[in-house]
Amino acid sequence: MNISVVGLGYVGAVCSACFANEGHNVIGMDIDKIKVDLINKGKAPIVEKDLEDYISRNVKEGRLKATISLKEAIDNSDITIISVGTPSETNGNINLKYIKEAAKAIGEKLKEKNDFHIVSMRSTVLPGTGKNVVIPIIEKISGKKAGVDFGYVSNPEFLRESTAIWDFYNPPKTVVGATDEKSYETFKKLYSFLNAPYFEVEIEVAEMIKYADNSWHATKVTFANEIGMICKKLNIDSHKVMDVFCADTKLNISTYYLKPGFAFGGSCLPKDVRAITYKAKSLDANTPLLNSLMPSNEFQIKRIYNEFVKPLKSKNVAILGISFKPNTDDLRESPILELSEILIGKGYKIKIYDSNILKAKEEGANKTLLENELWHINKRLVTNINDAIENADIIIIGNGSKEFADIIKNNKNKYIIDLMRVINQKSTKNYIGIAW
Ligand SMILES: NC(=O)c1ccc[n+]([C@@H]2O[C@H](COP(=O)([O-])OP(=O)(O)OC[C@H]3O[C@@H](n4cnc5c(N)ncnc54)[C@H](O)[C@@H]3O)[C@@H](O)[C@H]2O)c1
Repeated sequence: MNISVVGLGYVGAVCSACFANEGHNVIGMDIDKIKVDLINKGKAPIVEKDLEDYISRNVKEGRLKATISLKEAIDNSDITIISVGTPSETNGNINLKYIKEAAKAIGEKLKEKNDFHIVSMRSTVLPGTGKNVVIPIIEKISGKKAGVDFGYVSNPEFLRESTAIWDFYNPPKTVVGATDEKSYETFKKLYSFLNAPYFEVEIEVAEMIKYADNSWHATKVTFANEIGMICKKLNIDSHKVMDVFCADTKLNISTYYLKPGFAFGGSCLPKDVRAITYKAKSLDANTPLLNSLMPSNEFQIKRIYNEFVKPLKSKNVAILGISFKPNTDDLRESPILELSEILIGKGYKIKIYDSNILKAKEEGANKTLLENELWHINKRLVTNINDAIENADIIIIGNGSKEFADIIKNNKNKYIIDLMRVINQKSTKNYIGIAW
């Protein structure tokens, strides 16, 4: 394929050299003449392992060159990869100056080109930047239509400096969001040499994945450092702790606990987070990430009332599932129980159905709890799911119990607030999935 790369910094120089190495004709473009001249001399514009070898070999063999002329780059390619910088503004917002300048310049050149051309965003940009910023600029200036006259692709970069070439050939994944089928197909071919998970998604999903990744990586480092600080104060070997922690691939280093939904609760997580953060405080270990967990979790509970229940202006609510997860009767620190209490306190008429709690009410350990401490919940428990929903205008699905999926499908005239994404498809306009 004929590829141009706009911006020859860390990302652009590496992907230019590697795509050329895969046999493509690559023309790199930068406004910085020093970088352009270096590449044309077979030299690397940045310090990166093996990059100079890749550049010099591919320049010598005629598959790679660089230019300061965008016209030359666009005229000699079918795909243009944008890899200009996206630094921070002083307030933290993303600075799209270079992206907008590149988009304007590309729009100008595409105006003069008749062939279908794909513009691919490799720079990290916030969700919505493709559809709301880059595509409109190119369309306005070129007079062409995205998805018809030119393709737009979001293809975030996952390389790490210092191992960039190895990462190019061994990425954790490839993610492609595109405006049209032709662009999806072209990119599938472009990456066919890789043996890595390949995801075709919507453009905004592709853009967001990069931020989810980097936020997660930053969270991991900060988490490990905070655990390390507590260990240090307690004279415990933090690496031993984290080695064992990381060996748990069922709950710790796994997909578990990583689906957006409702607050955490239960008999362990809140109590243990409170205990370790109190301990950290008493040791003068500053652990802002761990300290943020309880307030953030409490916000999730209040948010359901403020953002979803309150605006509906109806006071009749059915709550289906009140234990903190399905298949348990444990009510300790159940966040849905707390939500119920907020609603009761605000004068809502609520009926609660939970088959496991009903069993507990008869004989289990929770019988006394319900009768003594939770009598305000106990008197609102009904024995039949239909009894709960009959006069309700709002149904809150409190846990992921399978029996609730049909309730969503069969009650399209009522507002359904699904805290767990029990169904896999948004059904009606009355359906409010908090994780959709
Ligand atoms: N560096 C990394 O490890 C890495 C990894 C993944 C993603 N990213 C993302 O990739 C993007 C690029 O990062 P980088 O580190 O390569 O940036 P960089 O600053 O090293 O390089 C950007 C290049 O773009 C050039 N440029 C600016 N405006 C231009 C224009 N209008 N036309 C042509 N060239 C222009 C600059 O001269 C510079 O050479 C950023 O969005 C970054 O967040 C970087």
